[in-house]
Amino acid sequence: MLYSVTILLLLVHVVLGYINPVAVKGKHFYDSVTGELFMVKGVDYQPGGASGVSVDKDPLSEIEECTRDILLFQELGINTIRVYSVNPDLNHDKCMSLLAAAGIYLILDVNSPLPNQSINRYEPWSSYNHDYLYHIFKVVDQFSHYNNTLAFFAGNEVVNDKVSATHSSNYMKAVVRDLKTYITHHSERPIPVGYSAADDLSFRIPLAKYLECSNSTAELDSVDFYGVNSYQWCGYQNMQTSGYDQLVANYEDYTKPIMFSEYGCNEVTPRIFQEVEAIYSSKMSSVFNGGLAYEFAQEPNNYGMVEYLSDGRVKLLKDFETFKNQLAKASENYQVKQMNEKVRSTPLRCQDTYENLGNKLVVPQSLGMAFITQGVKCEKGSFVQLSDDDFVVKREIFLPDGTKFQKNKIVPTHNLNGPDTHQTVPEKSQGSKNGKYLQILNVETFPSSSRLTLNRTVSVKNYSLTTL
Ligand SMILES: *[C@@H]1O[C@H](CO)[C@@H](O)[C@H](O)[C@H]1NC(C)=O
Ligand SMILES: *[C@@H]1O[C@H](CO)[C@@H](O)[C@H](O)[C@H]1NC(C)=O
Ligand SMILES: *[C@@H]1O[C@H](CO)[C@@H](O)[C@H](O)[C@H]1NC(C)=O
Ligand SMILES: *[C@@H]1O[C@H](CO)[C@@H](O)[C@H](O)[C@H]1NC(C)=O
Ligand SMILES: *[C@@H]1O[C@H](CO)[C@@H](O)[C@H](O)[C@H]1NC(C)=O
Repeated sequence: MLYSVTILLLLVHVVLGYINPVAVKGKHFYDSVTGELFMVKGVDYQPGGASGVSVDKDPLSEIEECTRDILLFQELGINTIRVYSVNPDLNHDKCMSLLAAAGIYLILDVNSPLPNQSINRYEPWSSYNHDYLYHIFKVVDQFSHYNNTLAFFAGNEVVNDKVSATHSSNYMKAVVRDLKTYITHHSERPIPVGYSAADDLSFRIPLAKYLECSNSTAELDSVDFYGVNSYQWCGYQNMQTSGYDQLVANYEDYTKPIMFSEYGCNEVTPRIFQEVEAIYSSKMSSVFNGGLAYEFAQEPNNYGMVEYLSDGRVKLLKDFETFKNQLAKASENYQVKQMNEKVRSTPLRCQDTYENLGNKLVVPQSLGMAFITQGVKCEKGSFVQLSDDDFVVKREIFLPDGTKFQKNKIVPTHNLNGPDTHQTVPEKSQGSKNGKYLQILNVETFPSSSRLTLNRTVSVKNYSLTTL
């Protein structure tokens, strides 16, 4: 199929140069503008752990630290980070703009360890209160304006034993419903809301199914995607010995996207991250949409890829290089045969009971309706102009052997301030099947209804389209 160069140029001008939101369709994530499949290639990022958020600082509030770490995200070759807690009273515009310029998306947990900012798994009825809801709505309100906010997590491992399963499962549905209702009223686009689960076999299937179902057609109490925290692939394994084959089988008929929200067992060190190859292979990619390796920053629990020294200097650990190499290898080999997405037209109705979840499965009434109607007061995020200086790393970075890491500047891949000047149209782009432009053209050419149902082979590395 050949198209004229004129249309090509026009589309390049209109489409490129901005970071496009990612959206859910069926069991996968897509670039909402180009229709290209989006596989999560990322890391969990919360320097300082639980104390990484405070009144005056969080992981996305300090531009110099963001610049240093975003350079390293680029070096790793990732496209997503997950941040566990932020303080919505701080300004995040610069860090979010810089992430966007580097082509990196954010999955954000709405909770924090500060008082009244998380659900107590054993006493959800007291911690699900007005102050809590005000906090989570502020997080959503501020971050929904950034195109590179990929999704929100309503909770992380809130259900992790018998008692919490009985007490908290229905509160998780309530929080999901409240977040989605707030987004419906106040966000320009439907940002996906998910839940990140502890992979306990007693709850793996029942909790996922319970959070997926809905008795109402609006499906507000149903998650848009599901995250699994799994540490079961340790050292040298394969699909069978690791139990990944069971994970895939268990989630095969889930109607929403599944991803690893944490992975990376450290029982065998140094880690070899052999599971990365499996995650992005055809054995898993029809069910799993990639995942987030735990974790970027070294903490006492020893899962880090990077160690923070004094004065903001950092040292890369061995896991950094290993993870980077595995990801690069996986991306080269990675090919997904895109099947037609089956999208359910009616929600899966909730059952009366789910195994191991107890009998309190009625979703509590919302305490947040007044905030939802009126909106909450907080500074709305927006992309800002960055100076050349913002792209330059001011802190020293050391390789595992102690020598200095030479790169010190982030290379922008997206220009947020207008049509992109970093990308030029190759003269013969319509003759080659390797151009980004060809893909954008194809997607724009088809009616939007069929956009995401094309049968095609997507190569994440070079964006080639082999089948139309
Ligand atoms: C955000 O995405 C929308 C498409 O949904 C696009 O029109 C807009 O230009 C993007 N903005 C930026 C700053 O990337
Ligand atoms: C937590 O929130 C409740 C009700 O929303 C409030 O009464 C209480 O004072 C708050 N506690 C703290 C420590 O802020
Ligand atoms: C859905 O409806 C069924 C039966 O009508 C009821 O047993 C169940 O508790 C409801 N579940 C939710 C989550 O609303
Ligand atoms: C997509 O591929 C499947 C399996 O290869 C085939 O059955 C189906 O007809 C194709 N759909 C379209 C729209 O080409
Ligand atoms: C892009 O992918 C295609 C199909 O997998 C392959 O044949 C081609 O060599 C790749 N091109 C580049 C530049 O990597």
